[in-house]
Amino acid sequence: MRRGSLLTMLLIGAVAFVATAAVALFIPWLPEQGSREREGIDLTFWLATWICIAIFAVVAAVIGYSFLKFRVRPDDDSDGPPIHGHTGLEIAWTAVPFALVVAIGVVSAVVLTQNDKARGGNANEVSVTAQQFAWTFEHPNGVTSGTLRIPVGRSTVLTLHSNDVIHSFWVPEFGQKRDVVPGIETRLVITPKRTGTFPVICTELCGLGHSLMRSRVIVLSEQEYAAWLREGEQAAGTEPEGAAVFAEAGCGGCHTFGPAGSTAEVGPSLDDLPDDPELIRTSIAEPDAQIAAGFEAGVMPKTFGEQLSAEQLDALVQYLLGGSQ
Ligand code: CUA
Repeated sequence: MRRGSLLTMLLIGAVAFVATAAVALFIPWLPEQGSREREGIDLTFWLATWICIAIFAVVAAVIGYSFLKFRVRPDDDSDGPPIHGHTGLEIAWTAVPFALVVAIGVVSAVVLTQNDKARGGNANEVSVTAQQFAWTFEHPNGVTSGTLRIPVGRSTVLTLHSNDVIHSFWVPEFGQKRDVVPGIETRLVITPKRTGTFPVICTELCGLGHSLMRSRVIVLSEQEYAAWLREGEQAAGTEPEGAAVFAEAGCGGCHTFGPAGSTAEVGPSLDDLPDDPELIRTSIAEPDAQIAAGFEAGVMPKTFGEQLSAEQLDALVQYLLGGSQ
C-alpha cells in the first residue's frame, strides 16, 4: 500500500475516533453514580464503549478511503477485479474480535461476582415483590411499602419475587439490573454511596402498565434509617391511613385520583366514584367482577384482597370516597 493511502486512512480514522470519543465523553449519558456496584458496571460500560469507538474508527477509515479512492469514474462501467480473499486479514478480523469479546466477558464476570457480595458489615435485608404493575418492599421492621427505604454506606440485599410475569428491578443511579422471575428467588445487592431519592424502574416489558411500573427508593443516613425503623415498628398496629394505603399499594401507578395527585390512565379514573363502599371494596379485591366501560379484564392484580388487611381495605375505600385523609 502506498504511503499516501495509509496516511489518508489514518487521518479519516483519527477524525472518526476524535468525533465519536467527544460524543461519548462530553455528553452526560449516565446519571450520577449512586452506589458502589455502579462503579463496576460503569467500568464494563466504558470498556465496551471504547472498544466500539476504536472499531468504528477503523471501519470509518476503510470505508472513507474506499469512497475517495474507488468511486466510479465518468464513463467507466466496467467491473472491478475479482478478489480471492486475504488470509492474513481474515485471521486478524477473527482473532481480534474474539479477544475483545472474551475480554468483555471476563471483566463482566468479575464485576458481577464482586457486586454479589454484601459490603460494610451486617447487611440490611429487604424482600421485594413485583406484580403487574407495582412494587412492594417489605422492610426489616415489618413495614410493607410501595417506597423502598435503605441506609447509605452499607449493603442492602434485596430478595426479589414476582407474583405474575417477569419484571426487572432497576435504579439507574445504582447501575445493576436484576430480573424478577415468577417461581424463583433472585437477589440484588445495593450499597448506596450517597443519600437522596432515586427512581425504581421496571425494565422488563411486563404488560399494559409496564411504563408506569415505577416507584422510588429513599436512601437515608444510618441515623435517619434507624429512626425510621423504630417509628415503623411502633406504627405497626395503629390504624392505617387511606392515603398511605393508596401510596403503598401503588394504586396511583394505574389510576387517576385527584386527592393523591395521580394522573395515570391504565385503569379507570377513581375521581367521582359512586357512593357505594361495598362495590368499591369488591372492585379492589376482585377487579374482574365488574369492568368499567372502555377497560379490559385481567389487567389489575387480583392480589390486593389478600395483600391488604381488612382495616387497610376499609381505610382505602373511605379514602377513595373522600371520607378520610
Ligand atoms: Cu413490570 Cu415492566
